Amino acid sequence: MIKIKCFHGGASFNAVGINFDRLDSKNEIIRADVTDAWFKPAPNVINALSEHLSWLLKNSPPTNSEGLVNTISEARGIPKENLIVGGGSSDLMFAFFPNYKFDSVSILDPMYGEYTHIFENVLKKDIRRIKQKPEAGFKINVNELVQGCAGSDMLAIVNPNSPTGVYLTKIEVKELLSKIPKETILFIDETYIDYVGRAESVEALVVNYPNLVVLKSMSKVYALSGARVGYLAAHSTVIDMIKPFIPPWSVGLIGQVAGIEALKSEDYYLEKISKTNELRKEFVARLQGLPGARVYPGCANFILIGIKETGKLAQDVCEELIQKNIYIRNATSMSSQFNQDFIRVAVKDEKSNDKIYLALKEVLEN
Ligand SMILES: Cc1ncc(COP(=O)(O)O)c(C=O)c1O
Repeated sequence: MIKIKCFHGGASFNAVGINFDRLDSKNEIIRADVTDAWFKPAPNVINALSEHLSWLLKNSPPTNSEGLVNTISEARGIPKENLIVGGGSSDLMFAFFPNYKFDSVSILDPMYGEYTHIFENVLKKDIRRIKQKPEAGFKINVNELVQGCAGSDMLAIVNPNSPTGVYLTKIEVKELLSKIPKETILFIDETYIDYVGRAESVEALVVNYPNLVVLKSMSKVYALSGARVGYLAAHSTVIDMIKPFIPPWSVGLIGQVAGIEALKSEDYYLEKISKTNELRKEFVARLQGLPGARVYPGCANFILIGIKETGKLAQDVCEELIQKNIYIRNATSMSSQFNQDFIRVAVKDEKSNDKIYLALKEVLEN
């Protein structure tokens, strides 16, 4: 039987009510099972939405998000012909993979679980897993990727990778592109690239590389997870192939306005990204003091923790934390190598990180 869904974080919605009937209690729980931003969307996003809310709710948006595409094109220096937008990057994954012709695919292991789900359960593709080893800090090596994907029609990677927080630099991605066959599609999910620096993105290279496809979520970095905005950058031949499968109004009016206003607020977001990096470093330093915990410091807004030596199972740790209104992620489904030995915590604000640390310390030490 087909496994119909990938496991994600978001169990924390049980606490606020899946029908949103306990939304007032949202501040009593810590949602560190998902990597949503700890900060608010930029003030001009909030102002635009609040000022025009009822109009935005009742009107149909521009059919193909033309204004949003123009704004992304200008902000990122990518021609419009090389862009499509969707209701979050997940929407675009489900538009791209079923409609792009390929048989075999290589992926990283560990890696964000939706890819395994789409390739294995939905599309029944032949998957090859290129394993990154915990003892090497899950480091990604270009030559291992080149060898690992030999013979595959596609290499799909998340860069920086989730949940490991390990990444390839732009120079390394270019080296990878120069070493894989031109017929092999390199699909890169850059959801977290802004945390290592916007200049590290390879999105603008799609103009010159017909085999490069770059997926960008605007959820995490622009604090727009609820609004559902993402885009895909690729060579115009690829975009022309996928565009017919994007339904009209795929990004709601709230998402289109929020996306455009967010892209006009770069200084605000750069400051938040820099603060997130500081918060992560402080959090990592404290977590490293937990006996038996192996902390993978990462580079984005999450931290992977190996807990095998604590003698605790990931599922039990997560369940014990829920009793304290803290939700973190059992990383088991993100790798064939993890068993119940890894958890992932999202980086939140100072107060929440402190609460997560103290609760984790208590659970792991008892
Ligand atoms: C690596 C990665 N890609 C894509 C997504 C999906 O993001 P969205 O659909 O909100 O753009 C996530 C969500 O956690 C993610 O971690």
